[in-house]
Amino acid sequence: MAIARQRIHLPQGAWRTALTSLLRGDLWDGPQITEFEKAFADYIGATDAVSVPSGRGGFKLLFDGLQLEPGAEIICSAFGYPIVPFLVKSLGYDLKFVDCETHTLGMDPEKLKDTISDKTAAVIATHLYGVPCQIDKIAEITKAHGAALIEDCAHCYGAAVNEKKVGTFGNAGCFSFETSKVINTMGGGMVTVNDKELGERLRTAAREGKQNNNKWLVKRLSKTSFESLVTNPVLFNLGVYQALRLMPKGEEDRFASGYHGDEVSMTGKMGRYTNYQARLGLRGMKTVGDLVANRKRNAERLIDRLGGQLHFQKPASDNVYSNFMLVTVLTPELKSFADRLLRAGIDTKHLYMRDCSRMFEGAGDFPNAVRAEKEVLHIPAHPHLSLGEIDRLADKIQKVL
Ligand SMILES: Cc1ncc(COP(=O)(O)O)c(C=O)c1O
Repeated sequence: MAIARQRIHLPQGAWRTALTSLLRGDLWDGPQITEFEKAFADYIGATDAVSVPSGRGGFKLLFDGLQLEPGAEIICSAFGYPIVPFLVKSLGYDLKFVDCETHTLGMDPEKLKDTISDKTAAVIATHLYGVPCQIDKIAEITKAHGAALIEDCAHCYGAAVNEKKVGTFGNAGCFSFETSKVINTMGGGMVTVNDKELGERLRTAAREGKQNNNKWLVKRLSKTSFESLVTNPVLFNLGVYQALRLMPKGEEDRFASGYHGDEVSMTGKMGRYTNYQARLGLRGMKTVGDLVANRKRNAERLIDRLGGQLHFQKPASDNVYSNFMLVTVLTPELKSFADRLLRAGIDTKHLYMRDCSRMFEGAGDFPNAVRAEKEVLHIPAHPHLSLGEIDRLADKIQKVL
């Protein structure tokens, strides 16, 4: 059996809950929004949490909430999700980059020291693929310069450093609930904050967003149902895998990344988070623990089996708890390795994150980000794969190597 790069699930009871919420009249507004925000803040250990229409929408609201004036300097990691620096730039901020490390793939704290100054208004530190960056060091440096710290926690629900959860190290943490994320509410996100007033400002702005409509609901349900079908093992093996193998060589894999293009896409990403999604989120929080435990078990088995032959993304120390949303290796022969893996029945993902600096003229040179964009490959290790399946996967990869 071939294995798909990712497994997307419809949130539990998504269609049924949509119908019952419509009938009850609490699909758009209702008490579950506050309940979800409270449960989320409690779990993360933040002062407050505010639901937002998307991860990127959360950033937009946060820049206003933190009262960052246009022209203010914001530092991002050169290796990351392009939408975030594009948003910074398009809102008129002075965007600066810092290179990433090659083990955590997060912002390098030593290099941050060379770039940050008393002019810096904010630093955005991204935790990639479920593995936290060296956020304790980054927080210390940022604080010493009086800059705000925003953590991009889109991939890192539940991850922690020294038992402190990510999303609590700075002024705010921004989470995403898109379909491929650890908590999936078919879009949306949550911003955690360390300050009550900031939370209230954000909440007021977020609640002013335009309410979604039934067309939006059907679109979200259809898109997620489609993703769940094509990544379902049976359907994947009945057709999707064969189609991937027939794709012309050398052509960029259109399915590799959630990002295509060179502009900020806010389409479908603003509006207001719904009570329906909050209901799905509350349910997701209850069941996610076992799934994360399985992800971690599978990732650690792959690292254990293949760590001698492949350069895996790794946490900075033993005190880091990673959720391994994706299992990631750096491989210099990415294209040919991915082709050989696909022929062996292993579908992989790449080009999810980019060297963002090269999208902005004169942004500087960031060799680790250049390398990461060329070499980062994600190996499937979904939580629903058993250890036996992971061992067979490791055997196949060893053969390919
Ligand atoms: C690292 C990172 N940050 C931010 C985002 C934006 O999240 P959203 O798609 O919910 O706007 C993503 C989305 O994939 C991401 O991967």
